[in-house]
Amino acid sequence: MTVVILDGKATAEKIISALKVKVSALRKKPGLGIVTVGNDSSSEIYVSGKVRACERVGMTAKRIVLDEDSTQDDVMNAIDDLNQDRNVHGYIVQLPLPKQIDASLVLDGILPHKDADGFSPINMGNMMAGKNVLLPATPKGIIRLLDEYKIDVSGKHAVVVGRSNIVGKPIALLLQQRNATVTMCHSMTKDLKKMTKQADIIVSAAGKAGIIKANMVKKGAVVIDVGISKEGDTIQGDVDFEKVKKIASYITPVPGGVGPMTVVMLLENTLECYNMSNMID
Ligand code: GUN
Repeated sequence: MTVVILDGKATAEKIISALKVKVSALRKKPGLGIVTVGNDSSSEIYVSGKVRACERVGMTAKRIVLDEDSTQDDVMNAIDDLNQDRNVHGYIVQLPLPKQIDASLVLDGILPHKDADGFSPINMGNMMAGKNVLLPATPKGIIRLLDEYKIDVSGKHAVVVGRSNIVGKPIALLLQQRNATVTMCHSMTKDLKKMTKQADIIVSAAGKAGIIKANMVKKGAVVIDVGISKEGDTIQGDVDFEKVKKIASYITPVPGGVGPMTVVMLLENTLECYNMSNMID
């Protein structure tokens, strides 16, 4: 079987071209705010990619950089400012946050129509109810990539590895909305191989390099790798790509798969926030 590599980079570029056209027709530039707290080195890499992408499509990016030892009040004040800033149409607070900060209180404070990541409880609830406004960028990007390659998930057995609010829970929900039968696995799952071996579609968001090995994958499965682990100077996914690609029908590479899709979905969400701000004004 010849495997198809799901090219997130090329798909993201197509979406960027379409976004550029849309943004150039607007009377004002959509603005994305990005809050970082502390010095998480991975966050710094992700955030600089997001800033560059904003600039490429003609959006403005406003960075708010808070110290590692910031207090809850410092972060809440930054959020209040962004909620009121009329040039910031949507914004995100990059996760993880330092341990003294309660992330759920922070996400509670984001105005739902400015919640470009779709992480606030209102938007999470809307997603749960099947109202698909401001979906979290990574799961939205995965669905878009599956659509791009016309991969129909209806009736298929999808096994999701990882249960985070950012990826695992929302992708399970979105796949189920598209009529997949979904199994969720996590760190306490007893026999991961037994589960993944049954999957028509595997979405791995464990963040553990190489956790998905060839003997855990059914022949012809679709394999989506959301994992990003730094191994020295290189970035590794959750999937043993070289071996698994000999078994899978479709597979995402790392880098160049889900990552670029996440960034462009954030831009799409920022445009949605911009459009909502015009309805509110
Ligand atoms: N940390 C890892 N992924 C993400 C993301 O998509 N958004 C935010 N805000 N933080 C993250």
